Amino acid sequence: MRRFKSLPIERAVLERIIEAATWAPSGGNAQTWRFVIVTEPARIAKLKTVSPGLLGDPGAVVSVCQDLADARAKGSTLGETLLAPCDAAMAAQNLLLAAYAEGLGTCTVASFTHRAVARLLKLPADVEPVLLVSVGTPDETPKAPPRNREGIVHWEVYGG
Ligand SMILES: Cc1cc2nc3c(=O)[nH]c(=O)nc-3n(C[C@H](O)[C@H](O)[C@H](O)COP(=O)(O)O)c2cc1C
Repeated sequence: MRRFKSLPIERAVLERIIEAATWAPSGGNAQTWRFVIVTEPARIAKLKTVSPGLLGDPGAVVSVCQDLADARAKGSTLGETLLAPCDAAMAAQNLLLAAYAEGLGTCTVASFTHRAVARLLKLPADVEPVLLVSVGTPDETPKAPPRNREGIVHWEVYGG
């Protein structure tokens, strides 16, 4: 979803979708994710200037972050390099589904300048933004782009 009505989103709704995100699985149940919820229009506008992939006028943007120092402490190198991004993606997916259940639309955004987002959101040195998720009141009903299933699914062994 990339077209939103310019309406604010109730804090209680945002709290519910963030709670859903925190129920995602995480490697070793490490839960090293961090969420920064941005609702101030001026701050969202600044985020857009450093995020070419962030389109439309969402009522909120959630920065799904990882505390890499915490991830390292709990899972060493594997925790930082593999589990942290997987866990962030799991949390983001929960967030998308919970937002949809609330009647909201979302877009996952990876196209942004990490350092600029970190500065705008005052992230501590070890906290890395992994994804931005825009959340808003839908102003379109987009059709899901087609999925290619040719050569994607393999039974028992690759090629089977
Ligand atoms: C890791 C990831 C990064 C993405 N980054 C962007 C982005 O920067 N900007 C954007 O508009 N959409 C982005 N998307 C959304 C995809 O383009 C979208 O999910 C895909 O085209 C399938 O469409 P659907 O989710 O509506 O079914 C991203 C999705 C994922 C999973």
